[in-house]
Amino acid sequence: MADHRTYLIDRLEVERALTIADAVDAVERAFAAYGDGRAQMPPKSYLTFPKGDLRCMPAYIPEMGVATVKNVNVHPGNAGLPSVMATISVVDPETGFMLAIMDASYLTAARTGAAGAVAAKYLAREEAAVACMVGAGVQAETQLAALMVVRPGIRKVLFCDADPGRAETAAQRAAAAYGIESESATIEHGVPQADIVTTVTPVRSPIVKAEHVRPGMHINAIGADAPGKQELEPQILRGAKVVIDNWDQGSHGGEINVAVSGGLITRDDVHAEIGEVVTGRKPGRERPDEVTVFDSTGLAVQDCACAALVYQRLTADSDARARLAAVDLLRLA
Ligand SMILES: NC(=O)c1ccc[n+]([C@@H]2O[C@H](COP(=O)([O-])OP(=O)(O)OC[C@H]3O[C@@H](n4cnc5c(N)ncnc54)[C@H](O)[C@@H]3O)[C@@H](O)[C@H]2O)c1
Repeated sequence: MADHRTYLIDRLEVERALTIADAVDAVERAFAAYGDGRAQMPPKSYLTFPKGDLRCMPAYIPEMGVATVKNVNVHPGNAGLPSVMATISVVDPETGFMLAIMDASYLTAARTGAAGAVAAKYLAREEAAVACMVGAGVQAETQLAALMVVRPGIRKVLFCDADPGRAETAAQRAAAAYGIESESATIEHGVPQADIVTTVTPVRSPIVKAEHVRPGMHINAIGADAPGKQELEPQILRGAKVVIDNWDQGSHGGEINVAVSGGLITRDDVHAEIGEVVTGRKPGRERPDEVTVFDSTGLAVQDCACAALVYQRLTADSDARARLAAVDLLRLA
């Protein structure tokens, strides 16, 4: 009898199978495949509901052996459920069979942190020693974890948040996790001290100002992922080497979207997509004093690379396989 099992992989199993370092490596390979034109990634599509939305993100990277579709909602008013929940369907490209359905909430945070880390690897100064996280929520934690993989020399981190209690808690957790100097700060005080700044807030008007930026700084702009969102004053983009993940997504809802729609910057002002930098088609950082910005909106290829790793690692291990629930969805006679 043919094996028609579809594995159901919950968040805890995904966390077991995917370390942050794995995610950084997988996302770098995904950006390279995308930059080389080896990946398929049709645009995200959206369904709009009265209280939220649902986004569908398909991708196929042939060398990773599977195709994936992520469904992720945003329902900001949810009570008793997270406002953002994600699942990934893993499909066998040979037959179209559904190999697995996995939770993707941790995976999304891990792959988003990994994107920031890959950008920092190519764009931040090697000797970067101070990081500043603007926003101390869910994404900030994985952004810092991934950053520590590519810049282990970081010796101090500052957290700035509209809620000072959150910044303080994040600082305590970072000190315990990495044994580095860690404190809460205001944006005015924290950002100018940093070699690498990561913005991870949902704000719609700029909170990091041009006057906070110092020569040689690298900024990972992560929070803006929908039209109208922006975290950086547009003058920062005008004066920086700007790398995006994808023009269509970035100009629609990334950090550059407001500046592009207002005519302040055009596609010619964007230095590269990250895939071009990772594959060496375009240079990353060229001078110690240049300001670099990475605008991340989150690509389906990042999800595909991480989900492929999780699926392959868990199903190759007999103990893990035995733990997983599985269903025969087809019920063929
Ligand atoms: N680029 C991507 O791939 C990607 C992926 C996931 C999430 N995101 C985006 O990242 C952002 C953060 O997501 P999260 O899950 O960490 O949210 P979260 O709610 O867990 O954390 C956001 C933090 O920002 C703080 N904040 C809000 N306004 C602020 C202000 N004016 N100044 C300083 N801090 C402020 C909040 O107090 C909170 O601690 C969201 O906009 C989300 O849509 C982007």
